[in-house]
Amino acid sequence: MRMNIRHERISVLGLGAMGRALASALLEAGREVMVWNRTPGKAGDLVARGAREASSVAEAIGAGGLTVVCLLDDASVRETLAPAAPKLAGATLVNLTSGSVRQARELTTWLDEHGARLLAGGIMAVPPTIGTEGAFILYSGARDLFDRAAPVLAPLGRPHWVGEDPGFAALYDMAALSGMYGMSAGADHALTLVQAEGGDVEAFKREVLQPWMEQMLPFMVPDVGVHEAVPDEFNPAMQATGLENILAASGEAGAPTELGGHLRASLWRMRSAIR
Ligand SMILES: NC(=O)c1ccc[n+]([C@@H]2O[C@H](COP(=O)([O-])OP(=O)(O)OC[C@H]3O[C@@H](n4cnc5c(N)ncnc54)[C@H](OP(=O)(O)O)[C@@H]3O)[C@@H](O)[C@H]2O)c1
Repeated sequence: MRMNIRHERISVLGLGAMGRALASALLEAGREVMVWNRTPGKAGDLVARGAREASSVAEAIGAGGLTVVCLLDDASVRETLAPAAPKLAGATLVNLTSGSVRQARELTTWLDEHGARLLAGGIMAVPPTIGTEGAFILYSGARDLFDRAAPVLAPLGRPHWVGEDPGFAALYDMAALSGMYGMSAGADHALTLVQAEGGDVEAFKREVLQPWMEQMLPFMVPDVGVHEAVPDEFNPAMQATGLENILAASGEAGAPTELGGHLRASLWRMRSAIR
């Protein structure tokens, strides 16, 4: 028998940078918050603001509401939950720990075997932006669970459900991060290139790179599948030549040239698709 989620009560396992931000936003929103962290001594200011500190994971999970888990990785989640396994029946967990698709699916199965339900999550925010307008959190798992949990979790960031498959929050999270790290790697490469040729890195960053990336951002996410079609105005031959120029400039400057490798393959694929 499943317990109803008591919307006002929520436990947070993990008081790292993100867990603390989550607990803080929930307190700010007036939730009744219980916290637990492996290493003691991190709950002081949260307790001063009204949180209760659990002496064990089982106590936090047994407190009666949702349990938000935000630990380093999947291994730490498993290590933390295993001793509490006998107390999991009827619990509802929301795992906001980053991980893989398979890990989310396997955790769901493991929890199900212990009579607990999981809403898997992916945080699209950093600690200082938790609870702010731009923050959103991906969730996947049973829709009825999401519908009941979303109002409780809303103070963390806009709840966005991405499907019944528990692995999809991780899937979209990792894919979105890949896009972000790709941009970040590109920016880092750009600065390396300018520095290697003796350019003014600060001025380049402020006056060229930043406004250029802002101008181009809407074009970086194509509105068609790259393998299906290319928009009329997109000229892959010109783009491929442009990329070769960047690689040549990088080679001359002694900056890494492997960065654009996957783009090169993708542009060649597009070129042959429209021939
Ligand atoms: N920070 C961000 O910008 C950000 C953004 C999006 C998503 N996330 C995700 O949020 C999660 C937490 O990130 P964070 O920034 O809070 O990391 P963090 O500051 O390094 O905190 C890690 C937390 O995990 C706990 N932990 C580590 N190993 C453990 C174990 N074996 N057993 C029990 N607890 C363990 C730590 O407890 P101790 O205090 O005892 O070490 C701490 O509470 C990660 O999955 C991260 O990918 C973070």
